[in-house]
Amino acid sequence: MNIADVAYLPEQPAHDPEIEHINAEAFGPGRFARAAYRIREGGPHERALSFVAIPENAVIASVRMTRVAAGEGTALLLGPLAVRPAYKNLGIGRRLVRIAVEAAGKAGAAAVLLVGDAPYYGPLGFGKIPRGQLSMPRPVDLGRILVVELKPGAAAALKGMVDHEDRIKAAFSLLPVHGEKVARRAG
Ligand SMILES: CC(C)(COP(=O)(O)OP(=O)(O)OC[C@H]1O[C@@H](n2cnc3c(N)ncnc32)[C@H](O)[C@@H]1OP(=O)(O)O)[C@@H](O)C(=O)NCCC(=O)NCCS
Repeated sequence: MNIADVAYLPEQPAHDPEIEHINAEAFGPGRFARAAYRIREGGPHERALSFVAIPENAVIASVRMTRVAAGEGTALLLGPLAVRPAYKNLGIGRRLVRIAVEAAGKAGAAAVLLVGDAPYYGPLGFGKIPRGQLSMPRPVDLGRILVVELKPGAAAALKGMVDHEDRIKAAFSLLPVHGEKVARRAG
């Protein structure tokens, strides 16, 4: 394979079975127990901001992005990122991260968040979130929560529990709205 022949394309529904296989191969059954997996279960990922690497006809690497929120802040959660073993150490993972972060910026995202290894993601612009600023719906090594800011102040706005934006919106829609109660009583 010539690395120059690898196409980086937005993900399509037809790629799903290959992506599932790549993630199963990279993370095994333990992936279902991860904090980031639990967050991603809360709703769909953003296909237009998720990318695959295709040298010929087959997907050999994938990165997904999912809309999340925490406190006043919003972000895209990057992951899973996985490259098929035969294609590792060719720069494909880094390229996918750069493409996804750039696309997130163009789409107006405030920040990109992930759970991962700082030595890998640091050179790609990610920094650590201060310990205790964020938590996740399952146990997570807080030192592995990394962020890249796309808008000034976006990292500081992320506070408390990180969850899928859809799950947070759904939870808020179940709360009684004060104004509605008053209106019902008055009527
Ligand atoms: C991690 C992963 C996505 C990297 O993809 P890749 O295409 O092989 O990586 P790249 O070619 O872009 O970068 C390779 C470099 O990153 C380094 N690297 C790879 N994984 C690393 C890690 N976890 N921590 C630090 N450095 C890492 C390699 O040693 C190599 O360093 P070098 O350039 O100095 O030789 C890939 O190995 C993979 O799919 N791993 C299994 C799934 C996984 O762990 N995903 C990341 C979740 S946070």
